[in-house]
Amino acid sequence: MEHATKPGIPAGMARPKTIPPLFWERLRTLVPGDRWSRVRASFEEARSGSFRVNTLRAEVGAVLEEMHSEGIGTSPVACCADGFVVEPVDRERLAATAAHRETRVWLQNPSSMVPVVALGPRPGERVLDLAAAPGSKTLQLAAALRGEGELAAVEVVKPRFHRLRRNLEAAGAGWVKAYLQDGARAWRYRPDHFDRVLIDAPCSTEGRFRVDEPETFAYWSPAKIRSMAAKQTALLDSAVRCVRPGGVVVYSTCSFAPEENEAVVTRVLERHDLEVEPIEAEVPGAIPGLGEWEGHVFHPALADAMRVLPDGTWEGFFVVRLRRRD
Ligand SMILES: C[S@@+](CC[C@H](N)C(=O)[O-])C[C@H]1O[C@@H](n2cnc3c(N)ncnc32)[C@H](O)[C@@H]1O
Repeated sequence: MEHATKPGIPAGMARPKTIPPLFWERLRTLVPGDRWSRVRASFEEARSGSFRVNTLRAEVGAVLEEMHSEGIGTSPVACCADGFVVEPVDRERLAATAAHRETRVWLQNPSSMVPVVALGPRPGERVLDLAAAPGSKTLQLAAALRGEGELAAVEVVKPRFHRLRRNLEAAGAGWVKAYLQDGARAWRYRPDHFDRVLIDAPCSTEGRFRVDEPETFAYWSPAKIRSMAAKQTALLDSAVRCVRPGGVVVYSTCSFAPEENEAVVTRVLERHDLEVEPIEAEVPGAIPGLGEWEGHVFHPALADAMRVLPDGTWEGFFVVRLRRRD
């Protein structure tokens, strides 16, 4: 069977053609009642397009002029000075622009910009991206550092690592040090070294499910969520060991599952001396992290984590900012 080795799909089982009812049941418990119909609709309606100006290659003003001259209207992403949204009708045209082909813009959902905003890297710092391919956030980090300081990017899957390298080269960030490595072991090489570490973890990708794209949810199952949670815990643990005392770690996923979010962070908070810090980013409709879910109690400081609910422009995301105590 072609898919027998994929997690969550036992040999001989067909892939689901519709989003599994259990996914909807779980999601219903995670979304405030007054937001449900909007969130539910976002899984099928036409999506906005969005991009970040790649300031390693171009000025924001010049790129906006270029877009407007092609008749593509843009509205700013409040929390990210380089981020912009375009109407659903312009989504495909945006992808076909020379600005995209020539890497002056990078297509990136606004939710995916939040983790780097939350991390707050500054020129001259030492920064690590622990799960980096295809490199959207590595590029955002590189732009924030403006080539000053140290930026390391780790990716464990070989073809994805090569794609990461190609993307970094193409977009003017060839100076980033990329490592084909298991991020869960990175702390052995660079303990207590980095000022800031991003762990944008591999996850069940629930935040990207589309009713009309069965491949987006083909491998979803509670077993997959459990296996992702184990990997995520090892990666976040490693991230915390890589950061220097006083440094910042941001953990993010594009999953709604509490097992992959609050439960992972609670486990790591119990092992290490960390503080949860509020995220200074204007994100429309974001809600706090959960205090408890289905009988599971999470660390109370996770009220300062952020759950981004999907609305047709913003994809589902979870972001938390941790500081290692001195
Ligand atoms: C959510 S994606 C990262 C997306 C990326 N941050 C971006 O914005 O373009 C997670 C990545 O982690 C990689 N990954 C999975 N397990 C890993 C591990 N143990 N160490 C490093 N990378 C890993 C996956 O192959 C995948 O490329």
